[in-house]
Amino acid sequence: MSRIFSGIQPSGELHIGNYLGAVKNWVALQSTHPGALFCIVDYHAITGNYDPAVLRSRRWEMAKSLLATGIDPALCALFQQSDIPEHTELAWVFTTLTPLGDLERQTQFKEKSSKHESIPAGILMYPVLQSADILLYRADLVPVGEDQIQHLELARDTARKWNARFEHAFFPEPKPLLTPTRRIMGLDGQSKMSKSLGNTIGLLESDDDIWAKLRPAMTDPQRVRRTDPGRPEVCNIYSLHQAFNPPDVVENVAVQCRSAGWGCVDCKKVLLEGMVRELTPIRHRAVLLDADPQRVLDALADGARTARAIAQETMRDVRARMGLDALVAPTPKSALA
Ligand code: AMP
Ligand code: TRP
Repeated sequence: MSRIFSGIQPSGELHIGNYLGAVKNWVALQSTHPGALFCIVDYHAITGNYDPAVLRSRRWEMAKSLLATGIDPALCALFQQSDIPEHTELAWVFTTLTPLGDLERQTQFKEKSSKHESIPAGILMYPVLQSADILLYRADLVPVGEDQIQHLELARDTARKWNARFEHAFFPEPKPLLTPTRRIMGLDGQSKMSKSLGNTIGLLESDDDIWAKLRPAMTDPQRVRRTDPGRPEVCNIYSLHQAFNPPDVVENVAVQCRSAGWGCVDCKKVLLEGMVRELTPIRHRAVLLDADPQRVLDALADGARTARAIAQETMRDVRARMGLDALVAPTPKSALA
């Protein structure tokens, strides 16, 4: 049976890009893949300047939001990376096997490092820690959005290198599991929806706040007047319809757009309805968790217990195969004679 592992940074609110690209899939997979592990990767979220109090509150919000989407601690392990020190231990092991050039070639490194004058080495090492996250649990399937494909290639290379040196087939070569909504664009319609670009819709935002963001959102640039026919295939709002509305509604949206039967605002109102339908139960569960925060703490403690047992066993095996296990006194020469 395949083992599922995935992670998310507590670097801001959970948004619909995270949800459609990854987290909705986690909720589905926890039922079909017993023993799945989902990790709030807080050590990944400290590579830039940050405020410790803000990080603390974001870790909390992320745990609560994930439980609100339907992540169920009875079916999977939800835990925090910083609760399991073996993540950073295995990351060090992997830095010794990773060519510097492979890290410098990562798209995310190139993007993030261009924003720094003095580049923290943590930004370069980020995918090494990610490989450790996954391989620590010897996971072979990783449900993520499209932007993580390159990092997973590196994780496979690392698994292959370690196996070749220390034990054949010890680590599986983890593969990404993508959804049809693997890359959700931001409301500007220009770039990926991303916390760092401020173009997101948060999963727990109110109907009014979502509408305030949807109303001015980018559509087909050729639809200048209400009577201009639109092209659903180039419109970001249409792709969100595909994610939030049933096929018959999506089909009607395309017809109304092409024939200019609806204006873009009409079309956005129908999208809002679909979003509210899906997001209302999630918001409701978040309110219940706010009233009972112990459930969040209990879920994380349970998750950490499960994760720790696997992580410790893997590291015991890794250390032994690398010559780093407990020393035993050498047999005295006289006893050999
Ligand atoms: P992050 O917020 O960067 O930790 O990402 C958490 C998960 O959400 C990862 O699996 C990402 O690939 C996925 N993700 C983030 N942004 C998007 C997006 N705009 N579209 C689809 N998936 C995304
Ligand atoms: N790098 C991932 C992101 O930005 C987060 C992450 C860290 C992750 N470790 C992971 C995702 C392990 C999957 C598996 O989205």
